[in-house]
Amino acid sequence: MKIGIDKIGFYTPHLYLDMNNLAKSRGEEPEKFTIGIGQEKMALAPITQDPVTMAANAALEILTEEDKNKIDLVMFGTESGIDHSKSAGIYVHQLLDLNPEARTIELKQACYGATAAIQLAKGHIALHPESKVLVIASDIARYGLNTSGEVTQGAGACAMLISANPRILELEEKSACYTADIMDFWRPVYSEEAFVDGKFSNEQYIAFFSKVWEQYKEKSGLELSDFEAICYHMPYTKMGLKALRTVLEEGSEDVQERLLENYEVSKAYNKNIGNIYTGSLYLSLLSFLEQKEDLEAGARIGLYSYGSGAVGEFFTGILQPYYREHLHVDHHEKLLSSRKELSVSEYEEIFEETLPTDGSTLELDVNEDPAVICVAGIKDHMRQYVNKEK
Ligand code: HMG
Repeated sequence: MKIGIDKIGFYTPHLYLDMNNLAKSRGEEPEKFTIGIGQEKMALAPITQDPVTMAANAALEILTEEDKNKIDLVMFGTESGIDHSKSAGIYVHQLLDLNPEARTIELKQACYGATAAIQLAKGHIALHPESKVLVIASDIARYGLNTSGEVTQGAGACAMLISANPRILELEEKSACYTADIMDFWRPVYSEEAFVDGKFSNEQYIAFFSKVWEQYKEKSGLELSDFEAICYHMPYTKMGLKALRTVLEEGSEDVQERLLENYEVSKAYNKNIGNIYTGSLYLSLLSFLEQKEDLEAGARIGLYSYGSGAVGEFFTGILQPYYREHLHVDHHEKLLSSRKELSVSEYEEIFEETLPTDGSTLELDVNEDPAVICVAGIKDHMRQYVNKEK
């Protein structure tokens, strides 16, 4: 039985900062950010968006009433969740009126959470072929103002429906994983911002790629030439390229050219949004599928997932016939092109805005936010969510 991605949606907030302006205000050459790091714009979540609302907005785009009834498992991958106890998935479940007989959980392993969810979903569907699983990846990446990680922040969510006989990407059976306890990036429970050993994290991202790539080749008997493209977890768009370059010599000139050309396409959305942590790999996959128009069904796409701390996994998918009919290219292009640019001082102000943590009540004006699902405020330590269409 084929199991894989049947639908994929994405959402990013309506505000962004131009990396040229950030570079100037931080005393850096703009090329460092746009070429050295490879980021052009960075999405910023206003106070009316959080990982829950971004996830719900991403899922809203793809789910029909039939899907909602058939979803019996909701898995929410995030590392910027809003509660230490309650799963962020429960709020999404309520906001989208999902089937109450579903299981709903949150998963965490840095940027790897959604990949873990997808692999668990595969097992679930193998046992229950009629069911559908909603996998959501949603995060706000925060390193702090004036930090070296600042240029690699971002905000957004991907939502995927995993099912039997998927219409977009069949996930192949073989995959290769690697886990090791390292401190390259972490966020203690008392901190709003991540701690990171930047250079070490870059090295480990590549070291883990090398381990899972070698393991994968041995398990599968496949080689570089068997891939149309490899999509990477993209903390910033130069990172995946650095990893790709370590294996390029295994292919002929044609293969190298194809993989490099397709890498460029696979970063189209990421370079305009930034790191969305666990959704980043899927945003790259989406960029590739939506922005590359001449892909043939049957093409094999490699996927490298990396979550600091760390877990790496390499797995693969096969493009399904007529997959393009199930994408929402126009909607996603409009989502990006209709965003509002912020000045650096506006960005800094919004970045510092937080919901009260002392139990006081705050009501927010959701009319400023074009998203359907928003944070409307907080009361008695409970976030108030609104679905404007309900
Ligand atoms: P930095 O020290 O500010 O930058 O940190 P740099 O000095 O290393 O420069 C960056 C690049 O710009 C270099 O290129 C420079 O040469 C180049 P490279 O040598 O690396 O190819 N450069 C220029 N290029 C053109 N024109 C110029 C120019 N000047 C310099 N004028 C760093 C950069 C990424 C380390 C920092 O932003 C950071 O710490 N970011 C956060 C950590 C991160 O993203 N790590 C990635 C791997 S870990 C991961 O992916 C997991 C993660 O997503 C979290 C999770 O799993 O949850 C982060």
